[in-house]
Amino acid sequence: MATGGGTRVDRMLRPVHRWVWGDFDRRVRKLLAFAEVEGDGGRDILRAAEVTSDPLLRRLYLEHAIDELRHADLFRRRGADLLKLRSTRSKVLFNTSPLPGGHGLDDLSIEGEPDHRLLAFLHVAEKAAAGRFAIYRDVVDDDPSTRAVFEEILRDEVFHMNYTYTQLSRISPRSYRRQVWRARASRGLARVSGQP
Ligand SMILES: [Fe+2]
Ligand SMILES: [Fe+2]
Repeated sequence: MATGGGTRVDRMLRPVHRWVWGDFDRRVRKLLAFAEVEGDGGRDILRAAEVTSDPLLRRLYLEHAIDELRHADLFRRRGADLLKLRSTRSKVLFNTSPLPGGHGLDDLSIEGEPDHRLLAFLHVAEKAAAGRFAIYRDVVDDDPSTRAVFEEILRDEVFHMNYTYTQLSRISPRSYRRQVWRARASRGLARVSGQP
């Protein structure tokens, strides 16, 4: 399944993404913010591994959680490395960016969520992450080390996007498309109502 390089809106906003990532301090802040989101997502998915009654999903959630915690580490380390260079670079500080982040796993809630809802949510979130990280990888082409971090993480996100879909169709063979549609709609509504 292809990621499509982000939504149509994301692709239209590519110059804005380039502008956001073009500033040194914003780049550092984005990387450190992604580290937080990935780490939180990893801990939530670890919880999902504890509560599921499906042994295959337990193993996959566990691998997934380890990946997300590793992504947190990669982003944090790259942000910290850039930070060390900061004294010789731009002093312009921006605390926020007008664009959404990568994963959207910060919307994740585990307790009481059946696996089919969780898998549908994860599939939609991972697909969005894969699309955005593909764009970010392209717009940081002036910075090969940061680009390599996105490249490596992107491969995992595509795997996450695909396994969640495969597993959703295994456990909900008759309704998986509807589950994905619902997850996409509720994610869209969450965005509209001002959640991150
Ligand atoms: Fe990730
Ligand atoms: Fe992921």
